Amino acid sequence: MSGLKLVSTGAAIPAEVVTNEDLTRRVDTSDEWIVSRTGIRSRRWCGEGESHTSLCLAAARQAMEQAGIGPEEIGVCLVATFTGDRMTPGAATILQGKLGLREDTVCFDLNAACAGFIYAVHTASRLLPVNGRRYGLVLGAEVLTRVTDFDDRSTCVLFGDGAGAAVVEWGEDYPDPCTVMGCQARDEVLCVPGIHTGEENVIRMDGQAVFRFAVEALPRCVEEVLAKAGVGPEAVDRFVFHQANQRIIDLAVRKLKLPVEKCAGNIDHTGNTSAASIPLLLDELVSAGQLKQGQRALCVGFGAGLTWAGALLELR
Ligand code: UT7
Repeated sequence: MSGLKLVSTGAAIPAEVVTNEDLTRRVDTSDEWIVSRTGIRSRRWCGEGESHTSLCLAAARQAMEQAGIGPEEIGVCLVATFTGDRMTPGAATILQGKLGLREDTVCFDLNAACAGFIYAVHTASRLLPVNGRRYGLVLGAEVLTRVTDFDDRSTCVLFGDGAGAAVVEWGEDYPDPCTVMGCQARDEVLCVPGIHTGEENVIRMDGQAVFRFAVEALPRCVEEVLAKAGVGPEAVDRFVFHQANQRIIDLAVRKLKLPVEKCAGNIDHTGNTSAASIPLLLDELVSAGQLKQGQRALCVGFGAGLTWAGALLELR
């Protein structure tokens, strides 16, 4: 059986820390409301000199350095995002040039919102054997401040900017990531309209509807990945869930009776970074020695679409 391992991670977040207190000067909100409803205490917002490209480049370089591989060894470069610097060419093609990836590297962006990183890892696992080179560079990156309505207190307090990267390796004797993916077309509950619609191009969300979807989709996704892998939760070393809302995660953890020490998150200082959320958390865990060689992380993302995706990733 062929499959994929996680080799290394990288992360880049903007310099500017925006605290809940800072937000109280923009909208009618409070630190108490934001913390108790979401678990978020601060987030990072891109400022001058920072961009989607600069975040992607920094995260990608870090992951490649950690892996000890050069650009010529990468066969596939995928960026999960919906907030790139340009509508086209995509962020992955920009990385091809800036990182000096070979011209036959498969480079493209994909948009599966907050589930995008898992979609991208899965896609890399299928493209690498065709490409013939073992290593893939997979990123989740967002500059959500570009599509944030700063007058809408129910969304502007949630989102942050950042980029997370991973080098993955395909191998004939590597484990199947046991990916599960799906979607329901429900743009009425979560949508960024785009530039051509006449509507303001900002995040529109029915928070409660998304919440109800998430507390059902997240545990279901965990169970489906475990069933596909034929293992129980005890075989998983870390649960890495999309950092959308601490309450969603707490409810899922309780429902699945997972050990809380295996479910540490970072939403308190990142906010919701959509596609970047899972790779940013993976990087924190790897950097802190909380996800080690040979250990497995069960990752689940969910978001606009509505989409969801889960996978079991082993660190090489
Ligand atoms: O990335 C994946 C997609 N996104 C998600 O997963 C988000 C899922 N949803 C959520 O996380 C939550 O629904 C929110 C955090 C967005 C909102 O929390 P909630 O507990 O569902 O609040 P609510 O929308 O029911 O609003 C409750 C009250 C309302 O006031 P009234 O009508 O009760 O007087 C809101 O106007 O809270 C008010 N409110 C706020 N108050 C202070 C809404 N936003 C704020 C705010 N500060 N920032």
